[in-house]
Amino acid sequence: MTVRIGIVGVGAVSDYHHVPGIRIDPRCELVALCDPNESLLEQRKSDWADAGPAPLRTYVDFAGIAADDGIDAVIVATPNFTHLDISLACVEAGQHVMCEKPLGLNFEESARMYRAARDKGVKHMTAFTYRFAPSMRYVRHLVRSGQLGEPRHFRSQRFLDWPETSWGWRQYKKLAGAGDLFDMTIHRIDFAMDLMGPLESVCGSIAQYAKRNVTESGESCEPSEVDDWSSLIGRFEGGAVGVWEGSTLMKGHHNNGFGYEWAEVNGSEGSAAYQLTDPNNVILGKHGGTMEKTPVPDEFLVAPGSPRPPHDGVPSTVFRYDLVWEFVSSIVEDRDCLPGFDHGARAQAVADAVLDSHKKRAWVDLDLDLG
Ligand SMILES: NC(=O)c1ccc[n+]([C@@H]2O[C@H](COP(=O)([O-])OP(=O)(O)OC[C@H]3O[C@@H](n4cnc5c(N)ncnc54)[C@H](O)[C@@H]3O)[C@@H](O)[C@H]2O)c1
Repeated sequence: MTVRIGIVGVGAVSDYHHVPGIRIDPRCELVALCDPNESLLEQRKSDWADAGPAPLRTYVDFAGIAADDGIDAVIVATPNFTHLDISLACVEAGQHVMCEKPLGLNFEESARMYRAARDKGVKHMTAFTYRFAPSMRYVRHLVRSGQLGEPRHFRSQRFLDWPETSWGWRQYKKLAGAGDLFDMTIHRIDFAMDLMGPLESVCGSIAQYAKRNVTESGESCEPSEVDDWSSLIGRFEGGAVGVWEGSTLMKGHHNNGFGYEWAEVNGSEGSAAYQLTDPNNVILGKHGGTMEKTPVPDEFLVAPGSPRPPHDGVPSTVFRYDLVWEFVSSIVEDRDCLPGFDHGARAQAVADAVLDSHKKRAWVDLDLDLG
C-alpha cells in the first residue's frame, strides 16, 4: 500500500521538512497540493514534482482536497485560524490528518478536532517537531527507564533573534491565537508533559517588546497584538515542577536561524539536558559528578525503521523528516500516531491557561479532559 498524501498550505514549513520527509519515505507519495496563493502553488508544483507521480493535482480551496478520493492522508500546514475547518473537512472525508501546531486557536477548537478524528477512526497527529530530536528521544528513554531517579524538575529556554518587522498573520490574535506562546513555547509544554506526565496547574506571564507595525519591505501595517516573550512555572500531577521561557526577540541568539534551545530534566539521581543545536548528543550528569556531553546511542538517532541516514545533513534540520515517518507508520501499521490531536489539545489547554493566568495574575488549575 502506498499512502497518497495531500498538502494543504504550501508555505515555509511544508517546504522545510514535510516534503523532504515524504521524499525519503518509500511507503508514501505526494499527490496533491492546496493553497490560495496561486503563484506559489505553481512554483511548488514544479519544485516538489519529484515527491510523487507527475503531475501533482492542485487546488486553491481545501474542499478540493477533501473531495479528492485519491488522497489517503493530509498534512495541514496553514495559518492557525484555518486548522479547525480544514482538519474537520478532511477527517469527515475519512482522510488521516497531520496538523501543524498549535492545533487550533484555543483548547475548545483543538479538543473538537481530537473528538472528530477519534470518532471517525482516522489517524491524527499534531506536528510537535522537537519530540523527534534524537537527544529528546534519548532523554525520554532515560526518564522513562528510571535512570535519572524520580523526575523532580524540568527547565526549558528557547531564544531566537528574529527581525522586529511584521510577523504577518502570526501577529494577530484572530489569525494566530497568541505569539511566541503558541508558536514556540507550546512545543516545550508538549515535550515536558511527554517527559514528566500531565501538568496540574500553571502560573504564566507574557510580554510584548515590539510594535511590528512595518513590513519587511518598509510598508506600514496594523501593529502586533501578540506576545514576544512567554513564560510559565508549573506543577505536574506526579509532584515535579517546571520552568519555561521563550522569545523570538533575544538579540545575539541568531545562530544561523537555529537560535538557542536548552531543556533539562533533574531527577533524584541524575540530570539530562537536550540542545536543539546539538541533537545527536545529550549532556548527562549523576549525583556528585559533572554534566558531560555524551553521544546519543544509535538506536535513538532516527525513528524506528526509518531509512534516513542518521549522519547525513544538518542535524538540527534532518530529524524533522521523522514526523512524516511517524504519520505514515501509524497508517501502515494501523496504530495510534504519536503525538496525536489529544496531545495537541492538552498542550493547548496549558497554553490557554498561561494567558488566563497572565490576565488574572494568579495560578490556574488545569482541566485536561477532552470529552
Ligand atoms: N512544527 C514546526 O516546527 C513548525 C514550524 C513552522 C511553522 N509551523 C506551523 O505551520 C503552520 C504554517 O506555518 P508556515 O511557517 O508554513 O506559514 P506560511 O505563512 O509560510 O505558509 C502558510 C501557507 O498557507 C497558505 N494558506 C493560507 N490559508 C489557506 C487555506 N485556507 N487553505 C490552504 N492554504 C492556505 C498560505 O497561502 C501559505 O502559503 C502554522 O500553524 C505554524 O505554526 C510549525
